[in-house]
Parts: sequence; C-alpha cells; structure tokens
Amino acid sequence: MQTTSKVLLFALIAIITITCSNRKTYQIFSPDKNLKGEFFMESNEPYYTLWKGDELLIDSSRLVLKMKNKPGLDKNFEVVETIKESRENTWTQHWGEVKEITDKHNELKIVLFNDQENYNINIYFRLFDDGLGIRYEIPKQNDSKNIEITEEITEFNIAGDYSAWWIPGDPDSYEFLYNNTKISEIDSVNTPITIQTDNNTFLSIHEAALTNYAGMRLKRNNEHNTLLTSDLIPWPDGIKVKSKLPLLTPWRTIQVGDKAGDLIESDMILNLNDPNKLNNLSYLEPMKYVGIWWGMHIDLNTWEEGPRHGATTEAAKRYIDFASNHNIKGVLIEGWNKGWESWLSGNNAQDYTQHTDDFDIEEVVKYAKEQGVELIGHHETGSNIPMYEKQRGEALKYYKNLGIHTVKTAYGGQMNPEGTYHHGQYMVHHYREVVKLAHQNEIMIDAHEPIKPTGIRRTYPNMMTRGGVRGMEYNAWSDGNPPDHTTILPFTRMLAGPLDYTPGIFDIMLKKHENVRKKHAGKNLNRRVHTTLAKQLGLFVVLYSPLQMAADLIENYEGHPAFKFIEDVPVDWEQTHVLNGEIGDYITIVRKDRNSNEWYLGSITDENKRDLTVSLDFLDENKTYKAEIYKDAKNTHWETNPTEYIIEKATFREEDSLKLELAEGGGTAIRFYPE
Ligand code: NOJ
Repeated sequence: MQTTSKVLLFALIAIITITCSNRKTYQIFSPDKNLKGEFFMESNEPYYTLWKGDELLIDSSRLVLKMKNKPGLDKNFEVVETIKESRENTWTQHWGEVKEITDKHNELKIVLFNDQENYNINIYFRLFDDGLGIRYEIPKQNDSKNIEITEEITEFNIAGDYSAWWIPGDPDSYEFLYNNTKISEIDSVNTPITIQTDNNTFLSIHEAALTNYAGMRLKRNNEHNTLLTSDLIPWPDGIKVKSKLPLLTPWRTIQVGDKAGDLIESDMILNLNDPNKLNNLSYLEPMKYVGIWWGMHIDLNTWEEGPRHGATTEAAKRYIDFASNHNIKGVLIEGWNKGWESWLSGNNAQDYTQHTDDFDIEEVVKYAKEQGVELIGHHETGSNIPMYEKQRGEALKYYKNLGIHTVKTAYGGQMNPEGTYHHGQYMVHHYREVVKLAHQNEIMIDAHEPIKPTGIRRTYPNMMTRGGVRGMEYNAWSDGNPPDHTTILPFTRMLAGPLDYTPGIFDIMLKKHENVRKKHAGKNLNRRVHTTLAKQLGLFVVLYSPLQMAADLIENYEGHPAFKFIEDVPVDWEQTHVLNGEIGDYITIVRKDRNSNEWYLGSITDENKRDLTVSLDFLDENKTYKAEIYKDAKNTHWETNPTEYIIEKATFREEDSLKLELAEGGGTAIRFYPE
C-alpha cells in the first residue's frame, strides 16, 4: 500500500514555545499554517486549544487519564521534554473513495512526568491542514505492567454555543436519526458529531485507530454549556479500559473545514491509522451485491425455516441468474443456516455450518461459480458472543472451504455476556479478532451493529464496510428515515468510514406482493421509503461503500430502465469531490472510477425541491463526454409521485456547467463517459 515515503525528522517546523508571565505555551501549526494548536500546563494539568486563523475553535481543554490506585494522576504533572517532527508521505489505498492519499502533518510529543505517582505519560498532537489528532501514550512504568483506566477526561471546550448534528450516546447502537441543536442542548452523543461555528467553520469530532480500548462517546458538562468531555463505555465492573503497558490510546480527532464538504474530502482519520498489516490481499474485491434480504424486512419472507423461508435453493439461483445478467458481482443470502428460531431470544441455536433443509449450499455455490457470481455469507450472532466465539473459527473456515470470500456479520439483540456493551473494550477486541480471523480465511467483512469505523480499514483492508447507521431497513418496519436523513449522513456517520446503508429501493410504496404482506406484515403494511426513485440512484454515488447493495427484490429491477445506472456505477474510486452541500439540505458528489475514465455524479436533496448549478470542471480537459442523466420528472415528489423519473442523454466538456433539478425528496444520478 505504501508508495512513496518522505519522512522529515526534526524538520524546521513551526512549533514555537512562548513563555507568558507564568505559563509556558507550546504552539504547533498545520503545514499550511491555517490551524494552530496550543499546549500548556495549568495547575500542573495538561491543556490544549485549537485555532483556525483568528478563530478560536476549541477553548482551554483538559487532557486527563484517571487510573485505579493512582489518585495523584490527574494533577502533579510537569513537562519533561518536547519532541517535534514533520512528516510527509503519499500512500495508496487498496480500495476506497480516492486512490492516493497524502499524509502531511506536524507533530508535537509532550513527555510528562507525575512525581506524586512516579508516572510518565506522553501526549501526541498531530496537526494536519484538515484537523488535529491527540492521543495519549502510557509507556511501561517501573511499578506496573497492567493498568485500569477508570476515566479519560479529554475535553472539547467548544468556543461557542454552535449548531451541531448528533445522535445519542447509546452504548449499543448508532442507529438513530440525527438531531440538529445547539451544543448546549446535547446530553450525550456518539461520534462523529459535526458542528458549524457562527463563523461558518465546520468541525467534526471523532476518533481514529480504536484498538484495545473502549469506544468514546461525549457527554456535555452541566455547569459549562459548551464543554464536551470523553465518556468511555465501561466494562461490567465500571472500569473503562484494562490493558498491559505500553498502551497507545486511539486518536481523538477534530476535523476542520471551510465548507461542510471539506470534512468529507478529509483523509485525516485514515492518516492517523497504521499502514496495512496484511499480506496476500488478492481475495479483496469491492463489489455491488443483491440479496435475499429485503423480503425478510418487509415481512414477505422469513429468516427461519417455514412456508415463507427466503433462503431456498431455488430463490438463490434466481438471484444468481439476475446478478450474472446485470453486472452485479455478489449475492447475499441471509437465513440459509439452521437455528434462526432462537434469534432475539438468546440466539442459542444458530449453527453456522448447517444449512437448512431447503437450501443446498454446495449446489448454490457451484451454481454461482458457474455464473461468475460470489456468494456473500451471513452470521447473525444475535450478540451472543460466547456462542459465536465458540463457532466462528469453524464457521469462517467452512466458508473458506466453499470458496466464499465475503461475510456479513450481524449483532442484533441483547448483549451476552450481560453487562457488556457493543461499544466497550470487550467488543472492540471481539470485532477486531473477527476481522483478523476472517483474513486468515481470505474473507472480507461487512459488519452490522458494529463498533464505529475509525479508519482501521487502512490497517486491515478486509474490513470493508459496516452498518452502524439507521439504514434502509428502518423504512420497512418503522416510521422510516425522513428525506433529510441521507443529506445528513455524508457529513456525520460517513466521515468515519464506509456505510452499508443499502440503497436502491424502486418499489418505494412497497406495493409488490401486497396480498402476501397483508397477511403477515401487520402494522408494517403501510410503511414506505421517503424518497424519489432518482434519489435512490443518487445514493449509489453519495453514500460510499466498497460493498454496495442494490437492496430491492430483484423482480422490482427486472426490465426497469433505471437499473442500468446501478449496473454501470462502480464501487472503487480514483477521486472524490464534493461539489456542493449543506448539512441536512442537499449534497452533490462526483467520483471518478478507478478502472476507467468514467465519472459519476450523485446529488440528493431533503424534502425541499431545488435547482443546483454545478461546474463540470472535474472532467478531463480536451475531452468530450457523453452523459446519461437519471433525474426527477417535473411533477415528481417523494410523497405523492415518487417513481416518476426521466432519462436524458447529453454531451459535455469540462468548461460546461449543468443545472441539476431535484424534486422534493429527490435526486439525480449521472454517468459521464468519454466519447
Ligand atoms: C440487522 C442487520 O442490520 C440487517 O441488515 C440484517 O438483515 C438483520 N440484522 C438480520 O441479521
């Protein structure tokens, strides 16, 4: 993955030490000098601030770790040494939104000593043009090999009571609609949380390289309206992190942009992760997939065996035929194994190496191979971790032996062991072990109900995509996702990494099979998707996932002219640019295919109709491009007339501009290919 590497050690970077009357401040600048971080000690406690030009973004904020049996640790520190470095290197993503990434930053390492506890802690600051990363290092100490962190108090003292987009700090789930409130109205949040200052600077707080640690949420301080503090998810006994030394914590990240779209183009989270650690990655293959899936969510089928069982040999073959005829590489099959009756009531019966009586896995695999299609396996753990850990080795090997290279894992249901949480250290470790074990079996992972992405896909590139988002399925069995939801996700959840939202529902009112559903869907009968059809296409470009599902029943795609866009759209990109966007209102993204000279544009809006004029200067100079435009019709409206759309053809050059006309809750998708 590494291409060129230029490390400038101890270079002449702009880290300045200022001594005020009684306070010594260490400054660090971003390579473009636009961002400035300051580090200082007050009452023998470490603090930092963050500035963009003259704008204070993060006011004095404490950096404290509390440990069991070390009461003196939150104060009594002294700076022993500071070490400065500058680095610049360019590396290649195995797959992703962009191919080449440049990591250019200045680093300041502060070596701290606490004489009361005879303890050494280091703090690292890395300043990039697009933000700040902060991490703690606890080196080996003379007296202890193991530590227990009882509290991490990393503060984010937001300089004003700004507008923020956030989901609640649930320790088990990220599947929520976003709130947009003032910081002072927050209680607790899961990151990324995205903030717009009164000066129209955009910030997003998250974490990078979450390894051997607890997930971080943020809570707001009751006495101080705009002070957010890290709040780690605990073990059952209340301890937050248990570790051997040395320990490097995850990076606490603050991405900064002039425009909301800058946050999406930022690579800082990936740059703060270690380079690829895995060999023999030839099995990795970003791909589109269809699957035996939506039928279960709309109550047409069941996961468990019975008269409406979805995963039958016959159905699988139909999906394989469809995929092979329509340039779709993967077919996901959920509910193929024995034991689904126990899901959501302990999940004790799942057997991941026993297929159901009506699903002949060997025959299906053979059939798929003949058609050049990859099957995507599925493990619903039900969050019964001991049960899954007992089986996962054999279960992944079983897939390997069958020649299956992708597994969707799922963690729906109450956590077992009791008292653990999906986002605590126990599960951070579990999810990572699954990724490693999957690699040993040449398997890519699509994790649902996961730990949030923090950029580890750079280090473990078989960690392809994940849920951890209120995705399409919510439209099948809840009030669903309102039209603005997908215009918030790119600026929040997607900043953390790829999301398996599963777009592409064409039967928006869920009318097909109404007769069968009338019997079984109960209160879900009147559910629908809050979108236009053209917007569903736009999501294939806007929402990035290297495993991208076309989620609808295949009969809703058969013979549908708009499906051509899904056939054409790639999943692995050379470049990505955000052309415009306001959080919760609209967004337009263009991406260039990694394997051809084609460009794809996706644009989506909230419940408001809008016209957006975009410049096509991303196209190559001196080339003429044909465009296939899928757009809302004049009278399209997500509520009343969602499925009407138009396909237009046109010719463009890079000096042209284009007016995108989006209906209420609508969107546009365009393929540009050189003439
Ligand atoms: C929840 C997942 O997110 C969903 O996609 C899946 O179909 C069910 N669990 C069953 O595993």
